Amino acid sequence: MAGRLVVLVSGSGTNLQALLDASVDPSYGVRVVAVGADRDGIEGLSRAARANVPTFVEKLGDYSTRAEWDEVISTRIAAYEPDLVVSAGFMKILGKPTLDAFPVLNTHPALLPSFPGAHGVRDALAHGAKVTGCTVMLADEGVDTGPIVAQEAVPVLPDDDEATLHERIKAVERRLLVDVVGRMVREGWTVSGRTVRIGK
Ligand code: GRF
Repeated sequence: MAGRLVVLVSGSGTNLQALLDASVDPSYGVRVVAVGADRDGIEGLSRAARANVPTFVEKLGDYSTRAEWDEVISTRIAAYEPDLVVSAGFMKILGKPTLDAFPVLNTHPALLPSFPGAHGVRDALAHGAKVTGCTVMLADEGVDTGPIVAQEAVPVLPDDDEATLHERIKAVERRLLVDVVGRMVREGWTVSGRTVRIGK
């Protein structure tokens, strides 16, 4: 039986697309059972629709408190009984109701703990870094602070701007995310302190 994945998106959804493409092969062992978003009208939701994957949208602004939204998003995710939740360019920190109920994987376009937050690519460029990259980690309640599962380096080229560097990182990020999600679902994982090990 394929592992059940709920993917959360806020934008273009190219990481989601990479997971959808990989899951076409039964030997990958993963099925995207739903896609959730915090906003309408994004390409990530269109990608899900084209793949006949059910979607849900919960906007923070539609709730009077963050705690209410945290409960609702967790309930929406739970309806699909995921083995793993992937926050793939989802621009919200998930709250305790979701984090306590499911393992959540997050992806970030920098080599953590350097350059956390919403502008990891811009911040690496502004710092003059010569090497940056991407990180796949387990989500916790902090901003990009969870235990690291995998990382890969990407060079910063002399003429890079934020867009060219982010595109180069995203090509690596998609491959890394697909690899990590597949291995975690097929082989399981353990966490000891901050050390994550895939496999039993
Ligand atoms: C990724 O680089 C992700 O790490 C960052 O935003 C980008 C999302 O890209 N937070 P996409 O929506 O998967 O194309």
